[in-house]
Amino acid sequence: MTTRILSTSPFVGPALQELGARFPELSIAPFRSIAWKMGLAQAEALLGLLTEPLTEADLDLAPRLRVIGTFSVGLNHLPLEACAQRGIRIVNTPDVLTDATADLALTLLLALTRRLRDGEALARSGQWKGWAPDQLLGTGIKGKVCAILGAGPTGKAFARRVWALGMKPLFWDRENKGTPVDFGAGLARRLPLADLLPRAAVLSLHCPLSAETRGLLSLPLLQLLPPGAFIINTARGGILDEDATIQLLHSGHLGGAGLDVYENEPNINGAWFQAPRTVLLPHLGSATQETREAMARCLCDGIAATLEGKLG
Ligand code: DGY
Repeated sequence: MTTRILSTSPFVGPALQELGARFPELSIAPFRSIAWKMGLAQAEALLGLLTEPLTEADLDLAPRLRVIGTFSVGLNHLPLEACAQRGIRIVNTPDVLTDATADLALTLLLALTRRLRDGEALARSGQWKGWAPDQLLGTGIKGKVCAILGAGPTGKAFARRVWALGMKPLFWDRENKGTPVDFGAGLARRLPLADLLPRAAVLSLHCPLSAETRGLLSLPLLQLLPPGAFIINTARGGILDEDATIQLLHSGHLGGAGLDVYENEPNINGAWFQAPRTVLLPHLGSATQETREAMARCLCDGIAATLEGKLG
């Protein structure tokens, strides 16, 4: 049987199986396995994960390829220019993971500002002597500025959440149009980074990783944050200079950092484990059953529509 659709994963839920019922020439083979490499020759659609970077050389082995589907909203692992030159469509999973990712960013924010790890450790230690007026005091967020990098759906969803908790969202994005951002619960200003960062009690990253945003938050920019500021990253590790962030945590300049993503996943820079006031998660932003099923559905629908010629 020829392989028209080649996937590296069954994903989550029934969507891929249902796609296979519509297009029986579907195979699943682990990324870069011999079966996967052989499948490239016939594949019209390639489906994979954000942990599986494709190269232009892979495209050379797939002359019939019409569409690449990624089980992610992020596209930084794909050779986008080469795909555009060859007319290969990209299908990803926007929108369906917006709320789950914004929820996780908020979880990190509250875990940091309310010292969740310290409190949990004390409760489990057997050393807790009881309630005390000055015990494990955290940092209130009401009335403070939350700087949000990226005015896409997730940045806006996060803005709605922090706004509901009494914070003031302000944005930076690549377009930097100077016009306010309508985040769905109000309008928020869009500022250049040099104006935004000194006001931020919290800085949360929600922009894609691209040539423009790689290494964007370097030491000089991070030093513009006021003492005690918190950083949340649920976007991509490469946007934030990890060494600079760790340095500012050790110096006491930063109040804390909550990370879900890292520069060299799955290898987390060991220096993070020694850094104070951190909450570290293993890329769980979209990890709910409902969201992952919706991502699979979104991806498979986009692949079917492309192969049926419904997307142009
Ligand atoms: C994405 O889809 O890009 C997310 O990082 C997955 O959680």
